[in-house]
Amino acid sequence: MPHRAFSHELVDRLARAQHVAALTGAGISAESGIPTFRDPGGLWEQFKPEELANVQAFLRNPKLVQAWYTHRRNVALEKAPNPGHKALVELEGLVPDFLLITQNVDHLHQRAGSKRMAELHGNITRSYCIDCGKTATEQEMTPIASGGVAQCSACGGYIRPDVVWFGEMLPEGVMEWAGEAAQRAEVFLSIGTSAVVYPAAGLPLLAKEGGAYVAEINIEASAIAGYVDEVVLGKAGEVLPALVQAVREKRA
Ligand code: APR
Repeated sequence: MPHRAFSHELVDRLARAQHVAALTGAGISAESGIPTFRDPGGLWEQFKPEELANVQAFLRNPKLVQAWYTHRRNVALEKAPNPGHKALVELEGLVPDFLLITQNVDHLHQRAGSKRMAELHGNITRSYCIDCGKTATEQEMTPIASGGVAQCSACGGYIRPDVVWFGEMLPEGVMEWAGEAAQRAEVFLSIGTSAVVYPAAGLPLLAKEGGAYVAEINIEASAIAGYVDEVVLGKAGEVLPALVQAVREKRA
């Protein structure tokens, strides 16, 4: 039975829009079998971000941090994009100016076929040397699987995942690009994010200030639910395909 938790107004506005932006969080990958961070049983319930997701922790114990991110990378590579990821690829094809802004590092949007994307927090499939910045090769990563530490073959520096850790700046220019898309958006979708981590969580509010119709898609109300125009309660992998189908029919 098609999901109908969203309004006709959202469909109409998406069908007319020239400029649309969508922010995604870990919730869109939950149905692919990748744990979120703050839900029951989520990563931050099992692991301490202060011991794993910042530079000091990495330099204190590179072996532990490299092993944890390699585990997460392997999980992400094993999993497949779900209908939620695929629906956003289709929406990208329907709207002249569309930008997908993701907080996720799992590479599932890219594997689904999304092209116009801003990776706010990096990408776990990439790694580099913390000293000289050289991109790491698979060869250099191999010691991790046997309990060793991966080091740069050029300078000996430790190899780190290309993700944004707590206390770090986002990649150069990506937040500006995302902010511009949010400000010119006629419709802004906030999908599967608890909206508690900034600056990402500020984008739906920036879009609202810019006059966009902002809709949140989540299994529960997020921290910004009180500020958006529409809260669509449901799983992203069920809501998004139905929403995009309704938009496609309206545009036809
Ligand atoms: N469909 C839609 N939403 C879902 C689903 C689903 N199937 N499953 C869970 N959610 C929602 C949860 O209700 C929650 O609001 O997804 C959200 C996940 O929130 P978090 O775990 O906090 O993840 P996220 O918002 O992406 O975290 C932001 O925090 O830890 C850092 O860098 C990390 O990018 C991450 C950032």
